[in-house]
Amino acid sequence: MQIRPVIEFRGVGKRFAGIAANEDISFAVNQGAVHAVVGENGAGKTTLMNLLAGLYRPDAGNILVRGEPVDFHGPQAAHHAGIGMVHQHFMLVERFTILQNILLSCESSYGLLPQLQARQKVSAICRRLGLTLDLDATVETLPVGLRQRVEIVKLLYRGGDILIFDEPTAVLTPGETADLLELLRSMSQQGKTILYVSHKLSEVLAIADTVSVLRQGRLVGTVGAAETTQGQLVEMMIGRSLTPSAERQTVTAGPLLLALNAVHCRDGRRAKALQGLSLQIRGGEIYGVVGVSGNGQQELTGVVTGEIAPTGGAVKLAGDNIAGMSMPKVRNLGVGLIPEDRDRQGLVGALPVWENMLLGQLRLPQFCHRGILSGAACRNYVAEQVRRFGIRLASIDQPVCSLSGGNRQKVILARELGRQPRVLVASQPVRGLDIGAAEMVHAQMMAAREAGAAVLLISADLDEVLELADRVGVLYAGRIVREFRPGELSPVEIGHYMLGGGQAVKPQ
Ligand SMILES: Nc1ncnc2c1ncn2[C@@H]1O[C@H](COP(=O)(O)OP(=O)(O)O)[C@@H](O)[C@H]1O
Ligand SMILES: [Mg+2]
Repeated sequence: MQIRPVIEFRGVGKRFAGIAANEDISFAVNQGAVHAVVGENGAGKTTLMNLLAGLYRPDAGNILVRGEPVDFHGPQAAHHAGIGMVHQHFMLVERFTILQNILLSCESSYGLLPQLQARQKVSAICRRLGLTLDLDATVETLPVGLRQRVEIVKLLYRGGDILIFDEPTAVLTPGETADLLELLRSMSQQGKTILYVSHKLSEVLAIADTVSVLRQGRLVGTVGAAETTQGQLVEMMIGRSLTPSAERQTVTAGPLLLALNAVHCRDGRRAKALQGLSLQIRGGEIYGVVGVSGNGQQELTGVVTGEIAPTGGAVKLAGDNIAGMSMPKVRNLGVGLIPEDRDRQGLVGALPVWENMLLGQLRLPQFCHRGILSGAACRNYVAEQVRRFGIRLASIDQPVCSLSGGNRQKVILARELGRQPRVLVASQPVRGLDIGAAEMVHAQMMAAREAGAAVLLISADLDEVLELADRVGVLYAGRIVREFRPGELSPVEIGHYMLGGGQAVKPQ
Protein backbone atom coordinates (compact mmCIF):
# COMPACT_ATOMS: atom_id res chain seq x y z
CA MET A 1 0.00 0.00 0.00
CA GLN A 2 1.33 3.37 -0.94
CA ILE A 3 1.38 5.85 1.91
CA ARG A 4 0.55 9.35 0.84
CA PRO A 5 0.46 12.49 2.89
CA VAL A 6 -3.03 13.68 3.66
CA ILE A 7 -1.74 16.93 5.11
CA GLU A 8 1.35 18.93 4.34
CA PHE A 9 2.57 22.02 6.11
CA ARG A 10 4.89 23.96 3.83
CA GLY A 11 6.81 26.82 5.39
CA VAL A 12 3.86 27.75 7.57
CA GLY A 13 4.18 30.88 9.68
CA LYS A 14 1.87 32.77 12.01
CA ARG A 15 2.67 35.86 14.03
CA PHE A 16 0.77 37.48 16.87
CA ALA A 17 1.65 41.09 17.53
CA GLY A 18 5.16 40.57 16.26
CA ILE A 19 5.72 37.26 18.08
CA ALA A 20 6.35 34.33 15.77
CA ALA A 21 4.06 31.65 17.19
CA ASN A 22 4.86 29.49 14.14
CA GLU A 23 7.73 30.02 11.75
CA ASP A 24 8.65 28.14 8.60
CA ILE A 25 7.08 24.86 9.70
CA SER A 26 7.15 22.03 7.17
CA PHE A 27 6.13 18.44 7.66
CA ALA A 28 3.73 15.91 6.20
CA VAL A 29 1.13 13.74 7.89
CA ASN A 30 0.31 10.37 6.39
CA GLN A 31 -3.17 9.05 5.83
CA GLY A 32 -4.27 6.85 8.71
CA ALA A 33 -1.31 7.77 10.90
CA VAL A 34 -1.28 8.95 14.49
CA HIS A 35 1.02 11.93 14.18
CA ALA A 36 2.04 13.58 17.44
CA VAL A 37 3.05 17.20 17.78
CA VAL A 38 5.07 17.83 20.89
CA GLY A 39 6.83 20.79 22.43
CA GLU A 40 7.05 22.86 25.56
CA ASN A 41 4.44 25.39 26.56
CA GLY A 42 4.41 28.20 24.08
CA ALA A 43 6.20 26.17 21.41
CA GLY A 44 3.37 26.85 18.97
CA LYS A 45 1.48 23.55 18.94
CA THR A 46 -2.01 24.93 19.48
CA THR A 47 -1.42 27.71 16.98
CA LEU A 48 -0.41 25.23 14.28
CA MET A 49 -3.46 23.07 14.95
CA ASN A 50 -5.72 26.11 14.93
CA LEU A 51 -4.35 26.97 11.50
CA LEU A 52 -5.20 23.51 10.25
CA ALA A 53 -8.66 23.67 11.83
CA GLY A 54 -9.44 26.98 10.17
CA LEU A 55 -9.49 29.09 13.32
CA TYR A 56 -6.58 31.21 12.10
CA ARG A 57 -5.09 31.78 8.69
CA PRO A 58 -1.34 31.40 8.19
CA ASP A 59 0.47 34.56 7.23
CA ALA A 60 3.23 32.64 5.49
CA GLY A 61 3.46 29.31 3.69
CA ASN A 62 0.79 26.83 2.70
CA ILE A 63 -1.26 24.01 4.09
CA LEU A 64 -2.12 21.21 1.67
CA VAL A 65 -4.94 18.76 2.30
CA ARG A 66 -4.92 15.67 0.08
CA GLY A 67 -2.43 17.37 -2.16
CA GLU A 68 -4.43 20.57 -2.66
CA PRO A 69 -3.52 23.92 -1.09
CA VAL A 70 -6.30 25.14 1.18
CA ASP A 71 -7.16 28.53 2.59
CA PHE A 72 -9.78 28.08 5.26
CA HIS A 73 -11.75 31.15 6.17
CA GLY A 74 -13.22 29.54 9.24
CA PRO A 75 -13.74 26.23 11.00
CA GLN A 76 -16.70 25.41 8.77
CA ALA A 77 -14.44 25.36 5.76
CA ALA A 78 -12.09 22.97 7.57
CA HIS A 79 -15.07 20.76 8.49
CA HIS A 80 -15.99 20.52 4.84
CA ALA A 81 -12.48 19.27 4.16
CA GLY A 82 -13.04 16.59 6.80
CA ILE A 83 -10.92 18.27 9.49
CA GLY A 84 -12.18 18.58 13.05
CA MET A 85 -10.59 19.46 16.35
CA VAL A 86 -11.26 18.40 19.93
CA HIS A 87 -10.22 21.49 21.83
CA GLN A 88 -8.70 21.69 25.28
CA HIS A 89 -12.00 23.11 26.46
CA PHE A 90 -15.00 21.19 25.30
CA MET A 91 -17.67 22.94 23.36
CA LEU A 92 -20.86 21.27 24.51
CA VAL A 93 -24.19 22.58 25.67
CA GLU A 94 -24.56 21.24 29.21
CA ARG A 95 -28.36 21.19 29.27
CA PHE A 96 -28.71 19.34 25.99
CA THR A 97 -28.62 15.61 25.53
CA ILE A 98 -25.74 13.87 23.84
CA LEU A 99 -27.76 13.43 20.67
CA GLN A 100 -28.83 17.07 20.63
CA ASN A 101 -25.23 18.16 21.03
CA ILE A 102 -24.10 15.98 18.19
CA LEU A 103 -26.85 17.17 15.87
CA LEU A 104 -26.25 20.80 16.77
CA SER A 105 -22.95 20.68 14.99
CA CYS A 106 -24.60 19.84 11.68
CA GLU A 107 -26.99 22.28 10.08
CA SER A 108 -28.32 19.52 7.87
CA SER A 109 -29.75 17.75 10.91
CA TYR A 110 -32.15 20.58 11.69
CA GLY A 111 -35.73 20.67 10.70
CA LEU A 112 -37.11 17.93 8.65
CA LEU A 113 -34.26 15.48 8.69
CA PRO A 114 -35.77 12.54 10.46
CA GLN A 115 -34.34 12.42 13.94
CA LEU A 116 -34.59 8.68 13.84
CA GLN A 117 -32.17 8.50 10.94
CA ALA A 118 -29.72 10.75 12.74
CA ARG A 119 -29.97 8.64 15.84
CA GLN A 120 -29.24 5.51 13.85
CA LYS A 121 -26.22 7.11 12.25
CA VAL A 122 -24.83 8.19 15.64
CA SER A 123 -25.48 4.74 17.07
CA ALA A 124 -23.67 3.16 14.14
CA ILE A 125 -20.63 5.37 14.74
CA CYS A 126 -20.59 4.42 18.42
CA ARG A 127 -20.93 0.74 17.58
CA ARG A 128 -18.07 0.82 15.13
CA LEU A 129 -15.83 2.24 17.83
CA GLY A 130 -17.17 0.05 20.58
CA LEU A 131 -18.45 3.09 22.51
CA THR A 132 -21.41 2.94 24.79
CA LEU A 133 -23.13 6.29 25.08
CA ASP A 134 -26.66 6.89 26.30
CA LEU A 135 -27.68 9.35 23.62
CA ASP A 136 -30.48 10.75 25.76
CA ALA A 137 -28.36 11.56 28.80
CA THR A 138 -27.82 15.28 29.34
CA VAL A 139 -24.22 16.35 29.00
CA GLU A 140 -24.13 17.98 32.44
CA THR A 141 -24.47 14.55 34.05
CA LEU A 142 -21.41 13.14 32.26
CA PRO A 143 -17.87 12.78 33.56
CA VAL A 144 -15.14 14.48 31.57
CA GLY A 145 -14.05 11.31 29.79
CA LEU A 146 -17.50 10.79 28.33
CA ARG A 147 -17.86 14.43 27.32
CA GLN A 148 -14.71 14.03 25.33
CA ARG A 149 -16.23 11.04 23.57
CA VAL A 150 -19.25 13.11 22.67
CA GLU A 151 -16.87 15.63 21.07
CA ILE A 152 -15.25 12.81 19.12
CA VAL A 153 -18.54 11.34 17.93
CA LYS A 154 -19.62 14.86 16.97
CA LEU A 155 -16.61 15.18 14.68
CA LEU A 156 -17.16 11.76 13.14
CA TYR A 157 -20.86 12.43 12.61
CA ARG A 158 -19.92 15.53 10.67
CA GLY A 159 -17.79 13.35 8.44
CA GLY A 160 -14.43 14.21 9.91
CA ASP A 161 -11.58 11.94 8.92
CA ILE A 162 -8.69 14.14 10.05
CA LEU A 163 -9.04 14.53 13.78
CA ILE A 164 -7.00 16.91 15.88
CA PHE A 165 -6.63 16.42 19.63
CA ASP A 166 -5.07 19.23 21.65
CA GLU A 167 -3.72 17.93 24.98
CA PRO A 168 -6.67 15.53 25.28
CA THR A 169 -5.48 13.69 28.38
CA ALA A 170 -4.80 16.78 30.49
CA VAL A 171 -8.30 16.46 31.95
CA LEU A 172 -8.55 12.67 32.12
CA THR A 173 -7.96 10.10 34.84
CA PRO A 174 -5.46 7.30 34.08
CA GLY A 175 -8.27 4.88 33.24
CA GLU A 176 -9.93 7.38 30.93
CA THR A 177 -6.55 8.06 29.33
CA ALA A 178 -6.02 4.37 28.60
CA ASP A 179 -9.51 4.23 27.06
CA LEU A 180 -8.84 7.26 24.90
CA LEU A 181 -5.55 5.89 23.60
CA GLU A 182 -7.34 2.66 22.76
CA LEU A 183 -10.03 4.62 20.93
CA LEU A 184 -7.46 6.61 18.96
CA ARG A 185 -5.79 3.40 17.93
CA SER A 186 -8.99 1.89 16.67
CA MET A 187 -9.91 5.08 14.80
CA SER A 188 -6.56 5.12 13.07
CA GLN A 189 -7.00 1.46 12.13
CA GLN A 190 -10.27 2.50 10.51
CA GLY A 191 -8.35 4.94 8.35
CA LYS A 192 -8.79 8.16 10.30
CA THR A 193 -5.78 10.42 10.46
CA ILE A 194 -5.02 11.69 13.94
CA LEU A 195 -3.00 14.68 15.02
CA TYR A 196 -2.16 14.32 18.66
CA VAL A 197 -0.82 17.33 20.54
CA SER A 198 0.73 16.61 23.89
CA HIS A 199 3.70 17.18 26.09
CA LYS A 200 3.33 13.81 27.83
CA LEU A 201 6.00 11.86 26.06
CA SER A 202 5.14 8.46 27.48
CA GLU A 203 1.66 8.74 25.96
CA VAL A 204 3.05 10.03 22.72
CA LEU A 205 5.42 7.11 22.35
CA ALA A 206 2.65 4.68 23.25
CA ILE A 207 0.27 5.93 20.59
CA ALA A 208 2.07 7.78 17.79
CA ASP A 209 3.59 6.52 14.56
CA THR A 210 5.41 9.78 13.91
CA VAL A 211 6.39 12.70 16.12
CA SER A 212 7.05 16.29 15.10
CA VAL A 213 8.83 18.42 17.67
CA LEU A 214 8.36 22.18 17.90
CA ARG A 215 10.52 24.58 19.81
CA GLN A 216 9.97 28.32 19.99
CA GLY A 217 7.64 28.26 17.03
CA ARG A 218 9.95 26.27 14.77
CA LEU A 219 10.07 22.65 13.75
CA VAL A 220 13.06 20.90 15.29
CA GLY A 221 12.42 17.65 13.49
CA THR A 222 10.03 14.87 12.58
CA VAL A 223 10.96 11.37 13.71
CA GLY A 224 9.46 7.90 13.69
CA ALA A 225 8.18 6.99 17.14
CA ALA A 226 9.86 3.60 16.93
CA GLU A 227 13.22 5.22 16.21
CA THR A 228 13.29 7.63 19.13
CA THR A 229 13.25 7.73 22.92
CA GLN A 230 11.79 10.02 25.55
CA GLY A 231 15.27 11.33 26.27
CA GLN A 232 15.85 12.26 22.65
CA LEU A 233 12.48 13.96 22.40
CA VAL A 234 13.14 15.99 25.55
CA GLU A 235 16.45 17.05 24.12
CA MET A 236 14.76 18.16 20.91
CA MET A 237 12.07 19.98 22.89
CA ILE A 238 14.35 21.94 25.18
CA GLY A 239 17.55 22.05 23.17
CA ARG A 240 19.64 20.30 25.78
CA SER A 241 19.52 17.10 27.77
CA LEU A 242 18.10 17.07 31.26
CA THR A 243 20.56 16.91 34.09
CA PRO A 244 19.98 13.43 35.47
CA SER A 245 18.01 13.92 38.65
CA ALA A 246 20.11 13.44 41.72
CA GLU A 247 19.86 10.05 43.35
CA ARG A 248 16.87 10.04 45.63
CA GLN A 249 18.25 10.40 49.13
CA THR A 250 17.03 8.04 51.76
CA VAL A 251 15.64 10.29 54.44
CA THR A 252 14.77 8.88 57.81
CA ALA A 253 11.25 9.93 58.60
CA GLY A 254 11.30 12.73 61.14
CA PRO A 255 8.68 13.77 63.66
CA LEU A 256 5.01 13.97 62.72
CA LEU A 257 4.72 17.54 61.42
CA LEU A 258 1.30 17.70 59.83
CA ALA A 259 -1.73 15.73 60.94
CA LEU A 260 -5.27 16.25 59.76
CA ASN A 261 -7.84 14.33 61.77
CA ALA A 262 -11.35 13.93 60.40
CA VAL A 263 -11.39 17.44 58.97
CA HIS A 264 -14.63 18.79 57.61
CA CYS A 265 -15.22 22.03 55.86
CA ARG A 266 -18.12 23.58 54.06
CA ASP A 267 -17.92 24.39 50.42
CA GLY A 268 -18.02 27.88 49.06
CA ARG A 269 -20.15 27.04 46.08
CA ARG A 270 -18.74 23.71 45.06
CA ALA A 271 -20.56 20.49 45.53
CA LYS A 272 -17.70 18.79 47.32
CA ALA A 273 -15.64 19.96 50.24
CA LEU A 274 -13.85 18.05 52.98
CA GLN A 275 -15.82 15.30 54.61
CA GLY A 276 -13.74 13.73 57.30
CA LEU A 277 -10.32 13.98 55.69
CA SER A 278 -7.40 12.47 57.61
CA LEU A 279 -3.74 12.31 56.69
CA GLN A 280 -0.35 12.43 58.39
CA ILE A 281 2.98 13.64 57.08
CA ARG A 282 6.32 13.29 58.81
CA GLY A 283 9.38 15.46 58.36
CA GLY A 284 11.46 14.32 55.40
CA GLU A 285 8.42 12.99 53.61
CA ILE A 286 6.60 14.05 50.46
CA TYR A 287 2.95 13.11 50.61
CA GLY A 288 1.28 13.31 47.22
CA VAL A 289 -2.44 13.82 46.78
CA VAL A 290 -4.06 12.65 43.56
CA GLY A 291 -7.68 12.88 42.54
CA VAL A 292 -10.06 14.26 40.00
CA SER A 293 -10.12 18.02 40.46
CA GLY A 294 -13.01 19.33 42.49
CA ASN A 295 -12.86 16.57 45.10
CA GLY A 296 -11.51 18.86 47.80
CA GLN A 297 -8.01 19.76 46.57
CA GLN A 298 -8.49 23.50 47.05
CA GLU A 299 -10.14 23.05 50.42
CA LEU A 300 -7.32 20.80 51.59
CA THR A 301 -4.80 23.51 50.75
CA GLY A 302 -7.11 26.02 52.39
CA VAL A 303 -7.42 24.31 55.76
CA VAL A 304 -3.68 23.64 56.04
CA THR A 305 -2.67 27.21 55.19
CA GLY A 306 -5.34 28.95 57.28
CA GLU A 307 -7.31 30.23 54.32
CA ILE A 308 -10.32 28.13 55.29
CA ALA A 309 -11.50 27.43 58.83
CA PRO A 310 -12.64 23.83 59.13
CA THR A 311 -16.08 23.18 60.55
CA GLY A 312 -14.87 20.04 62.29
CA GLY A 313 -11.78 18.00 63.06
CA ALA A 314 -8.23 19.06 63.83
CA VAL A 315 -5.30 20.35 61.81
CA LYS A 316 -2.13 19.85 63.80
CA LEU A 317 1.23 21.40 63.07
CA ALA A 318 3.85 19.54 65.07
CA GLY A 319 1.16 18.66 67.57
CA ASP A 320 -0.47 22.09 67.90
CA ASN A 321 -3.94 22.63 66.52
CA ILE A 322 -3.83 25.40 63.94
CA ALA A 323 -7.39 24.92 62.65
CA GLY A 324 -9.04 28.29 62.26
CA MET A 325 -5.88 30.38 62.71
CA SER A 326 -5.31 33.22 60.24
CA MET A 327 -3.07 32.75 57.23
CA PRO A 328 -0.28 35.06 58.47
CA LYS A 329 -0.24 33.28 61.79
CA VAL A 330 -0.05 29.86 60.18
CA ARG A 331 2.75 31.12 57.93
CA ASN A 332 4.70 32.36 60.89
CA LEU A 333 4.39 28.97 62.52
CA GLY A 334 6.20 27.51 59.54
CA VAL A 335 3.76 26.58 56.80
CA GLY A 336 4.90 27.56 53.30
CA LEU A 337 2.66 27.57 50.26
CA ILE A 338 3.26 27.25 46.55
CA PRO A 339 -0.24 28.18 45.46
CA GLU A 340 -2.14 26.77 42.53
CA ASP A 341 -2.92 30.19 41.14
CA ARG A 342 0.51 31.70 41.46
CA ASP A 343 -0.41 35.07 40.03
CA ARG A 344 -3.48 35.70 42.12
CA GLN A 345 -2.50 34.05 45.38
CA GLY A 346 1.26 34.02 45.27
CA LEU A 347 2.41 37.33 43.89
CA VAL A 348 1.51 40.99 43.64
CA GLY A 349 2.19 41.56 39.98
CA ALA A 350 2.81 45.28 40.02
CA LEU A 351 5.24 45.16 42.95
CA PRO A 352 8.95 44.70 42.30
CA VAL A 353 10.58 41.32 42.54
CA TRP A 354 12.36 42.16 45.80
CA GLU A 355 9.15 43.10 47.56
CA ASN A 356 7.40 39.96 46.35
CA MET A 357 10.28 37.90 47.62
CA LEU A 358 9.87 39.41 51.07
CA LEU A 359 6.07 39.50 51.27
CA GLY A 360 5.05 38.93 54.86
CA GLN A 361 8.65 38.93 56.09
CA LEU A 362 9.59 42.59 56.24
CA ARG A 363 9.14 42.65 59.99
CA LEU A 364 11.64 39.90 60.62
CA PRO A 365 14.61 41.18 62.68
CA GLN A 366 16.94 40.25 59.87
CA PHE A 367 15.37 42.93 57.66
CA CYS A 368 13.96 45.40 60.12
CA HIS A 369 15.50 46.89 63.24
CA ARG A 370 13.40 48.96 65.66
CA GLY A 371 10.80 49.52 62.99
CA ILE A 372 13.32 50.69 60.40
CA LEU A 373 13.69 48.64 57.26
CA SER A 374 17.23 47.92 56.17
CA GLY A 375 17.29 48.39 52.42
CA ALA A 376 20.74 46.85 52.14
CA ALA A 377 19.81 43.74 54.14
CA CYS A 378 16.71 43.25 52.01
CA ARG A 379 18.52 43.70 48.72
CA ASN A 380 21.40 41.47 49.67
CA TYR A 381 19.09 38.71 50.77
CA VAL A 382 16.96 38.94 47.62
CA ALA A 383 20.01 39.07 45.34
CA GLU A 384 21.34 35.95 47.02
CA GLN A 385 18.03 34.12 46.54
CA VAL A 386 17.87 35.20 42.90
CA ARG A 387 21.28 33.62 42.40
CA ARG A 388 20.50 30.45 44.34
CA PHE A 389 17.27 29.81 42.50
CA GLY A 390 18.60 30.87 39.09
CA ILE A 391 15.90 33.49 38.53
CA ARG A 392 16.42 35.25 35.24
CA LEU A 393 15.72 38.97 35.49
CA ALA A 394 17.20 42.33 34.60
CA SER A 395 16.81 43.88 38.04
CA ILE A 396 15.20 43.01 41.34
CA ASP A 397 13.32 46.30 40.99
CA GLN A 398 11.37 45.21 37.94
CA PRO A 399 7.71 44.36 38.52
CA VAL A 400 7.31 40.65 39.10
CA CYS A 401 4.61 40.46 36.40
CA SER A 402 7.27 41.20 33.79
CA LEU A 403 9.01 37.86 34.46
CA SER A 404 8.22 34.65 32.57
CA GLY A 405 5.95 32.05 34.20
CA GLY A 406 8.85 29.85 35.22
CA ASN A 407 10.73 32.72 36.79
CA ARG A 408 7.64 33.93 38.65
CA GLN A 409 7.25 30.47 40.12
CA LYS A 410 10.89 30.56 41.18
CA VAL A 411 10.29 33.84 43.02
CA ILE A 412 7.55 32.13 45.03
CA LEU A 413 9.76 29.13 45.73
CA ALA A 414 12.65 31.31 46.80
CA ARG A 415 10.37 33.18 49.19
CA GLU A 416 8.64 30.14 50.63
CA LEU A 417 11.73 27.95 50.94
CA GLY A 418 13.87 30.84 52.13
CA ARG A 419 11.89 30.67 55.38
CA GLN A 420 12.74 27.01 55.83
CA PRO A 421 9.17 25.94 56.41
CA ARG A 422 8.35 22.92 58.53
CA VAL A 423 5.44 22.14 56.24
CA LEU A 424 5.43 22.99 52.54
CA VAL A 425 2.15 22.83 50.65
CA ALA A 426 2.73 22.66 46.90
CA SER A 427 -0.38 22.87 44.75
CA GLN A 428 0.11 22.10 41.04
CA PRO A 429 3.66 23.41 41.44
CA VAL A 430 4.78 22.89 37.85
CA ARG A 431 1.55 23.40 35.95
CA GLY A 432 2.25 25.44 32.85
CA LEU A 433 6.00 25.53 33.40
CA ASP A 434 8.69 24.60 30.91
CA ILE A 435 10.52 21.33 31.43
CA GLY A 436 13.62 23.15 32.63
CA ALA A 437 11.75 25.24 35.20
CA ALA A 438 9.72 22.22 36.32
CA GLU A 439 12.91 20.27 36.88
CA MET A 440 14.22 23.04 39.11
CA VAL A 441 10.99 23.26 41.11
CA HIS A 442 11.07 19.51 41.69
CA ALA A 443 14.70 19.61 42.74
CA GLN A 444 13.86 22.30 45.31
CA MET A 445 10.97 20.27 46.68
CA MET A 446 13.30 17.30 47.08
CA ALA A 447 15.78 19.57 48.82
CA ALA A 448 13.07 20.71 51.24
CA ARG A 449 12.32 17.06 51.94
CA GLU A 450 15.98 16.33 52.60
CA ALA A 451 16.10 19.35 54.91
CA GLY A 452 13.40 17.66 56.99
CA ALA A 453 10.26 19.49 55.88
CA ALA A 454 6.93 17.71 55.50
CA VAL A 455 5.82 18.32 51.92
CA LEU A 456 2.19 18.09 50.85
CA LEU A 457 2.11 17.85 47.05
CA ILE A 458 -1.28 18.25 45.41
CA SER A 459 -1.17 17.67 41.69
CA ALA A 460 -3.35 16.69 38.78
CA ASP A 461 -0.33 15.07 37.14
CA LEU A 462 -0.18 11.49 38.33
CA ASP A 463 3.29 10.92 36.86
CA GLU A 464 4.63 13.86 38.81
CA VAL A 465 3.20 12.55 42.07
CA LEU A 466 4.42 9.00 41.51
CA GLU A 467 7.90 10.29 40.79
CA LEU A 468 8.23 12.62 43.76
CA ALA A 469 6.11 11.26 46.56
CA ASP A 470 7.09 8.87 49.34
CA ARG A 471 3.44 8.14 49.98
CA VAL A 472 0.31 8.94 48.01
CA GLY A 473 -3.28 9.52 49.07
CA VAL A 474 -6.24 9.40 46.72
CA LEU A 475 -8.66 12.23 47.39
CA TYR A 476 -12.24 11.46 46.56
CA ALA A 477 -15.35 13.30 47.75
CA GLY A 478 -13.43 15.19 50.40
CA ARG A 479 -11.63 12.24 51.97
CA ILE A 480 -8.46 10.26 51.48
CA VAL A 481 -9.96 6.99 50.31
CA ARG A 482 -6.75 5.07 49.74
CA GLU A 483 -3.10 5.44 50.64
CA PHE A 484 -0.24 3.66 48.91
CA ARG A 485 3.43 3.90 48.07
CA PRO A 486 4.46 4.62 44.47
CA GLY A 487 4.73 1.31 42.65
CA GLU A 488 2.16 -0.45 44.82
CA LEU A 489 -0.78 0.24 42.51
CA SER A 490 -0.98 0.46 38.74
CA PRO A 491 -2.23 3.69 37.16
CA VAL A 492 -5.47 1.97 36.24
CA GLU A 493 -6.00 0.83 39.82
CA ILE A 494 -5.28 4.36 41.02
CA GLY A 495 -7.81 5.68 38.53
CA HIS A 496 -10.36 3.30 39.96
CA TYR A 497 -9.96 4.86 43.41
CA MET A 498 -9.96 8.36 41.91
CA LEU A 499 -13.42 7.64 40.57
CA GLY A 500 -14.70 6.46 43.91
CA GLY A 501 -14.16 2.74 43.58
CA GLY A 502 -13.34 1.15 46.94
CA GLN A 503 -14.16 2.98 50.12
CA ALA A 504 -12.13 2.23 53.15
CA VAL A 505 -8.85 3.87 53.96
CA LYS A 506 -6.06 1.41 54.29
CA PRO A 507 -5.15 1.43 57.96
CA GLN A 508 -1.79 3.03 58.66
N1 LIG B 1 -4.21 34.56 20.14
C1 LIG B 1 -2.95 34.85 20.49
N2 LIG B 1 -2.55 36.14 20.64
C2 LIG B 1 -1.27 36.44 20.96
N3 LIG B 1 -0.31 35.53 21.16
C3 LIG B 1 -0.64 34.24 21.03
C4 LIG B 1 -1.96 33.83 20.69
N4 LIG B 1 -1.99 32.47 20.63
C5 LIG B 1 -0.74 32.06 20.92
N5 LIG B 1 0.07 33.12 21.16
C6 LIG B 1 1.50 33.06 21.46
O1 LIG B 1 2.09 32.20 20.53
C7 LIG B 1 3.05 31.35 21.13
C8 LIG B 1 2.68 29.88 20.89
O2 LIG B 1 1.50 29.58 21.63
P1 LIG B 1 0.72 28.20 21.51
O3 LIG B 1 0.52 27.90 20.08
O4 LIG B 1 -0.49 28.31 22.35
O5 LIG B 1 1.76 27.19 22.14
P2 LIG B 1 1.55 25.73 22.76
O6 LIG B 1 0.20 25.23 22.37
O7 LIG B 1 2.67 24.94 22.18
O8 LIG B 1 1.70 25.88 24.24
C9 LIG B 1 3.09 31.74 22.58
O9 LIG B 1 4.14 32.66 22.77
C10 LIG B 1 1.76 32.40 22.80
O10 LIG B 1 1.85 33.35 23.83
MG1 LIG C 1 -1.37 24.58 23.58
